[in-house]
Amino acid sequence: MKKVTYGILSTASIVGRFIQGIRDSKNGDVRAICSRDIHKARRKAREFMIDKAYDDYAQMLADDDLDVIYIATPNALHYPNALQAIRANKHVVLEKPFVLTKKQTIHLFEEAKKHNVFLMEAQKIVFLPITNHIKQMIQEKTLGELRYVNMTSSFVARFGYEHWMYDLQYGGGCLYGSCSYTTAYLMYLLDTLDIKGQGMQIKAPTGTDDFCQLQFSIEDRVMVSSCISMNVETKNVANFYFEHGYIEVENYWKARTMKIVKDGVEEIVEYPCPCEFVYEVDHVNDCIQNKEYVSSIMYPEITIKTAELVDEIFNGWNPELVREYAKCEE
Ligand SMILES: NC(=O)c1ccc[n+]([C@@H]2O[C@H](COP(=O)([O-])OP(=O)(O)OC[C@H]3O[C@@H](n4cnc5c(N)ncnc54)[C@H](OP(=O)(O)O)[C@@H]3O)[C@@H](O)[C@H]2O)c1
Repeated sequence: MKKVTYGILSTASIVGRFIQGIRDSKNGDVRAICSRDIHKARRKAREFMIDKAYDDYAQMLADDDLDVIYIATPNALHYPNALQAIRANKHVVLEKPFVLTKKQTIHLFEEAKKHNVFLMEAQKIVFLPITNHIKQMIQEKTLGELRYVNMTSSFVARFGYEHWMYDLQYGGGCLYGSCSYTTAYLMYLLDTLDIKGQGMQIKAPTGTDDFCQLQFSIEDRVMVSSCISMNVETKNVANFYFEHGYIEVENYWKARTMKIVKDGVEEIVEYPCPCEFVYEVDHVNDCIQNKEYVSSIMYPEITIKTAELVDEIFNGWNPELVREYAKCEE
């Protein structure tokens, strides 16, 4: 069977790991990379051993050798970058947080349908074997009913105030950066879109949220507390509390291991793998090869519901803010 071929948009810090995921996948191949700067594109192409380097996105999109575009640009550019790729009839894997608003989210999925191309939010967390193990334990009530989830994550000192992650216009901040890890994870685990949320923020001098504390209630039966921060170093951990025990998952968005505690007895479960992106990429390849252009795992409704929750929380924090990048064609 023909391999699924990828073009990579940007030389972002994350792309090396995604490329590794493609290379570790059963049927994927990386053929091109595009940067705003041709020297950077060529340098990265050499570093990652990719054949073609582009500095013109439209040219990369015109390359018939490419099936899928993986987009890892600043958050506010996701919408225009993905729209352009879809209209060039390319399949698209779009980094989280997908786009900035619910309206943009719905519009992109409508355009993908119109052009008969695959479109999915790159949310590797739902494809991890650990995630599926937890999902099974929830469904089978191995530890009784799930009642409470407490998650903390931080990425301190990774970016300076000059970085786009501190720029509201570019969709910076903790809420945009990581809310989807919490919401997509929980909607997938509990197989529901019935989730309500609210949030508090502490702002950086640039106006983006530097620290946010989010609370969700799922089906009025599971409480969730999710703390995301760029200004304090927390443990990166998700704790799932059940009636008769708990599960602790460190680095939950890329976990290979978890601790299960039942009646005071600890068990460690491990799923070793060199690159955690491989499960997501295998799924994308399967979908495209089978001409299934809507993912049955990371399905659009999860992405749309996350965008709705983020809209509500973000607009509550910044009611007066007008952002050029948040506009939608429709
Ligand atoms: N799934 C995951 O595990 C994961 C992890 C981290 C990040 N992400 C997501 O991936 C995306 C990239 O994040 P990152 O932290 O890797 O980004 P980053 O290192 O800051 O890189 C962003 C890239 O976008 C390109 N770009 C285009 N226009 C730009 C502009 N006006 N300003 C700055 N850069 C511009 C640049 O590439 P060129 O210079 O080559 O054009 C730059 O290297 C984000 O949406 C983020 O949420 C996902």
